[in-house]
Amino acid sequence: MRLVVTGGAGFIGANFVRTVIREHPHAHVTVLDSMTYAANRASLEDLIKVPGEGGSDDDEVRAHLAGGPARVELVEADCADAAVTDRLIAELTGPDDAVVHFAAESHNDNSLATPWPFVHSNIVGTYAVLESCRRHDVRLHHVSTDEVYGDLQLDDPAKFTPATAYKPSSPYSATKAGADMLVRAWVRSFGVRATISNCSNNYGPRQHVEKFIPRQITNILDGRRPRLYGSGANVRDWIHVDDHNSAVLRILSHGELGRTYLIGADGEHSNLAVMTAICELMGVAGSGGDRGFDHVTDRPGHDLRYAIDATVTREELGWEPRHTDLREGLQQTIDWYAANRDWWEPVKERVEARYAQTERVL
Ligand code: NAD
Ligand code: TYD
Repeated sequence: MRLVVTGGAGFIGANFVRTVIREHPHAHVTVLDSMTYAANRASLEDLIKVPGEGGSDDDEVRAHLAGGPARVELVEADCADAAVTDRLIAELTGPDDAVVHFAAESHNDNSLATPWPFVHSNIVGTYAVLESCRRHDVRLHHVSTDEVYGDLQLDDPAKFTPATAYKPSSPYSATKAGADMLVRAWVRSFGVRATISNCSNNYGPRQHVEKFIPRQITNILDGRRPRLYGSGANVRDWIHVDDHNSAVLRILSHGELGRTYLIGADGEHSNLAVMTAICELMGVAGSGGDRGFDHVTDRPGHDLRYAIDATVTREELGWEPRHTDLREGLQQTIDWYAANRDWWEPVKERVEARYAQTERVL
């Protein structure tokens, strides 16, 4: 099996590549990534090294790399660059070969400040990937988000289903919605062999420190105070990145072409609850009413609540999430950031300086 994984040096993509290498002994992966600020070469470095010359610290991954040819290749290029994308996708000629399209600008706060890169990568990039898959008749899985559905009220019993209408709120979610629509049109108009998944908020190792959970963990590790937007009433439906990726692999092998699958692990929690759990687990919940974090100015247009109903994915594909205890997953994530300071420390200062330009303690 040969895979082209776009965005494979980012958070979810890199964890996906690591899972593929562990679980598919004969897989070869070409990562196509433009190495934006969100990419981290260190997330893949141990996989790219030639076996015998150092290599992975991860015992399981090392066992699968040892003795064989290098199985992960990193091509630094923009997936909107049709010539490069087309050359890589043209090499996918086997029956199980596929493109897994993670590449995107992914942070809502950045999309509010600078929307253009989102239009470029998320829409034009997806267009280029689709055109190559169409030209070479290559199977595509397009990775998307539940944010295309807009938000739900806090007290609404409803969750998002594959039938929910699209109603994106931010430039990020609007460009992901646009990309999803392109994929649907290319399936219907040109017979492109594609599936789509819309997943809820991911957490776990190797997530950029601009995002909610790693930002708070690394703030505490760095001696800074964690930052909660507004009151923290907003609800997100958290899923461990490995559960997201196991669902993507299941869709690749068993999904029906043309279908959209929702991925979620029934992990709804308010931001306040997640923040409180992180502060407790890291021992910074203060005394005398100081809960250990600051409330700061809210995000403009802040979506209230996301919630996924993944019944169809569970029942039709026999997929189940494994990391269903959020506190346990948070502890594992905290341990990873504490043990991998070299991975995040070089960018931490810059991220916090950027937030400081707009954020005010309430
Ligand atoms: P990320 O920002 O950590 O990584 C994105 C990667 O894509 C980076 O390595 C970046 O360099 C690369 N990239 C960006 N533009 C590119 C381009 N034009 N060409 C090639 N590479 C490019 O994002 P992530 O959190 O890993 O998200 C991956 C995908 O999953 C995205 O499509 C996102 O919309 C989707 N998703 C994310 C979440 C979440 O909670 N993080 C949830 C559901 C869906
Ligand atoms: P984020 O990780 O940016 O994901 P998304 O916007 O895709 O949901 O944010 C998750 C939630 O956490 C969101 O409601 C915004 C909130 N948040 C904070 O309260 N503090 C922070 O420092 C950040 C980055 C986010």
